[in-house]
Amino acid sequence: MTDTTLDTPVAAAGGPVVLEARNLRKHYAIKRGMFKPTATVKALDGVSFQLEAGRTLAVVGESGCGKSTLARSVTMIEPPTSGALFYDGRDVVGRSAAEMKELRRTVQMVFQNPYGSLNPRKTVGTILGEPLEINTDLSKAERREKAVAMMAKVGLRPDQVDRYPHMFSGGQRQRIAIARALMLNPRVVVADEPVSALDVSIQAQVLNLMMDLQEELNLAYLFISHDLSVVRHIADSIMVMYLGRPVEHGPKEVIFTRPRHPYTRILLAATPRVNPALRTERVIPKGELPSPLNPPPGCPFHKRCPYATERCSAEVPALRPVDERLVACHYAEQMEV
Ligand SMILES: Nc1ncnc2c1ncn2[C@@H]1O[C@H](COP(=O)(O)OP(=O)(O)O)[C@@H](O)[C@H]1O
Ligand code: SF4
Ligand SMILES: [Mg+2]
Repeated sequence: MTDTTLDTPVAAAGGPVVLEARNLRKHYAIKRGMFKPTATVKALDGVSFQLEAGRTLAVVGESGCGKSTLARSVTMIEPPTSGALFYDGRDVVGRSAAEMKELRRTVQMVFQNPYGSLNPRKTVGTILGEPLEINTDLSKAERREKAVAMMAKVGLRPDQVDRYPHMFSGGQRQRIAIARALMLNPRVVVADEPVSALDVSIQAQVLNLMMDLQEELNLAYLFISHDLSVVRHIADSIMVMYLGRPVEHGPKEVIFTRPRHPYTRILLAATPRVNPALRTERVIPKGELPSPLNPPPGCPFHKRCPYATERCSAEVPALRPVDERLVACHYAEQMEV
């Protein structure tokens, strides 16, 4: 039986689904001046996925495509405008604050900037103890003990527990941010560009740590990056986004070796060390990402697409299953892979 349900795009690998999004949207109302009508930015415009325990879904796309908005929506830092969200099979949207406090422990976030996301006036011990202070009845001594144990787990020296964030390097700070996210034993970590601010040499160390922790704790990651080469090792499946929507979504091998969406192909061609065969193809990304305030009609990518036809400027391509992935392009079948 072929499954063509758009809500379950990637074949389940066996583990329980710990995070599911169905048709998530996040629209922002923008005031453009006194006499102009309010405009709507469709930062996220219909995103669905399932994430299983122990697996990594990477979300990629250039700056402004809605990745951070997706991260804020699925963590309920900013509830979505519409759509459904499930943590461990439990419906999240519309819960009371008390219920949300309990549910929120399931899904934790690591932010891009390890400099801005840690309070400079608090010691590492305090920073790591805070989630426990808010959510558990543990004593101060017990919280400190757990903070020290978590420091060791993420490769920090426990004797540095009384130091302040500025005394650590960028990579160490991101380890602290990861440790903080893990203090409440989440099932899912949403990591928004967790290594983008780090030197390339440090990136691999943090990615390796994340992979080790995933294996040990059976964590699921929603791993966000603008850079496909970063997700090459860590991802199990990949969702490529453009203007708030997925354009291609499938298993990593499929996306890296036989991409069918022209945008995915351009991203891959621009990625060093990834698929040299694709790089020889003359696909030149034209123009800039259009504003989600004023998206083009038809296929959102048509103004930059080397394959665009008249049909593309008139008709929106639906996200549909083609050759082991979901893809939103009228000509996905004809793309040579
Ligand atoms: N609070 C907000 N108000 C208005 N527009 C926003 C807001 N947050 C994000 N946007 C817009 O939504 C789009 C997606 O932004 P973002 O999710 O930050 O993208 P990314 O993380 O992929 O760079 C951008 O056009 C951005 O300007
Ligand atoms: S639908 Fe047309 S414009 Fe859009 S990606 Fe496919 S070929 Fe390009
Ligand atoms: Mg972002």
